[in-house]
Amino acid sequence: MKVSIITVFPNLYTEFLQTSLIKRAHEQSGVTFDVQAFSSFCQPKEHIDGPIAGHGAGMVIRPEVVERAVIAQEKVHGPAYKIFLTPQGKKFDQRMALQVAQVLQEKKHIAFFAGRYEGIDQRAHDAYADLELSIGDFVLMGGDLPVMIIIEALARYIPGVVGRGESVEKDSFSGPFVDFPTYTAPRSWQDREIPEILLSGNHAAMETWRHEYAVKKSVMNHFGWVRSHCKTKEETKQVAQAIPAHYCALMHSDVIVQQTLVGTSSVTSIDVHDIARSSRTYGIKNYFVVTPLIDQQKIVSKILQFWDESGVAYNRNRADAVSKVELKDSLANVVAVIEAQEGKKPVIVGTSAKKVEGCIPISYNDQALVWAQGRPVLFIFGTAQGLSSELIKQCDYLLGPLEGFSDFNHLSVRSAAAIIFDRWLGKIEL
Ligand SMILES: C[S@@+](CC[C@H](N)C(=O)[O-])C[C@H]1O[C@@H](n2cnc3c(N)ncnc32)[C@H](O)[C@@H]1O
Repeated sequence: MKVSIITVFPNLYTEFLQTSLIKRAHEQSGVTFDVQAFSSFCQPKEHIDGPIAGHGAGMVIRPEVVERAVIAQEKVHGPAYKIFLTPQGKKFDQRMALQVAQVLQEKKHIAFFAGRYEGIDQRAHDAYADLELSIGDFVLMGGDLPVMIIIEALARYIPGVVGRGESVEKDSFSGPFVDFPTYTAPRSWQDREIPEILLSGNHAAMETWRHEYAVKKSVMNHFGWVRSHCKTKEETKQVAQAIPAHYCALMHSDVIVQQTLVGTSSVTSIDVHDIARSSRTYGIKNYFVVTPLIDQQKIVSKILQFWDESGVAYNRNRADAVSKVELKDSLANVVAVIEAQEGKKPVIVGTSAKKVEGCIPISYNDQALVWAQGRPVLFIFGTAQGLSSELIKQCDYLLGPLEGFSDFNHLSVRSAAAIIFDRWLGKIEL
């Protein structure tokens, strides 16, 4: 297996390729590295770069230089799978590492092109790049650190490089979860102990402990990865157990009616029904419909009674969803029920169709912030023109408006609830 690296600064690689597992990749697995300077494909006094075309400052690596590099490296090592490093490329992650490692084993020659300055002429990308890779949403001075990062990740998949195959297969991101925590002697250090279970000799118990820890840590710190890599029923169940209990409440009281007036709104059967189905889909434990008005309560009770008595015969799944709906007369009573059920007051997360002030704004990537409190979570949704400022003040956090790329923003509350559940708790298909 050959790895060509074409760079402005070949010296950067001297130490790197002589070090640890990369050296072992070379010695034990026959991976040969060929580091070449772009300048070695230039005539004397010819520049590797030229000024950027059009207005704007900066220099760009010339396409003819890249062309000569491709021809020369392929002549020596055979046809190459060519990877150009650029912040505009696909994001490199563990899944991509495995794919590129497989390419290396099949094609036998990978060539990395590390840009500098303003990058490499786009026409050279278009003509030669089999893959454009970025290591993250930030801009470095050059593509050499990205090349080294990618080589380190690939090398772990080359047989014989990492001691036991097992340690790669069980590493973080080889599945939906990160690795378990590791310890070594001494048993006690700075009054911190190695967890007793790891010294117990009970392998099954140890495995369970490690796995549970890994699932929890993944859910807290890498929910984006977990939600896009969790495939099996068992994994899904484990993740569900690691996420704190979620509840939601649809407020028909303390909502804005007519611009600034605060008042009540009427219930609608479709909101009871549809938010129940969304709640059930995303694992919301109970959905509370909140109205202090007796006649409105009667309507909700009637709907719930229908589903309770005849719903199963009519549609078992819908009856199942509606069975999680509870009627309450105030938010305080919702909180009291959750506290009684969970032993802790919920973290209240408000939702709003407009940008409003009154509590801490959070985004749809802030699950860890909310979940780290070790309390159940209660989403509250407003009807009419949204939650009153008094209700917003009772929230711990506020999720901002859902927006598309249009000038229209008038979702029904049941649509908003479904989208919010999906953004906060849903799996993602990559
Ligand atoms: C200063 S950057 C050029 C940035 C370019 N003007 C842009 O904004 O997309 C110079 C070179 O560094 C490398 N580079 C910088 N950031 C990178 C990243 N996040 N991932 C991969 N390569 C990167 C690329 O090879 C790039 O051609």
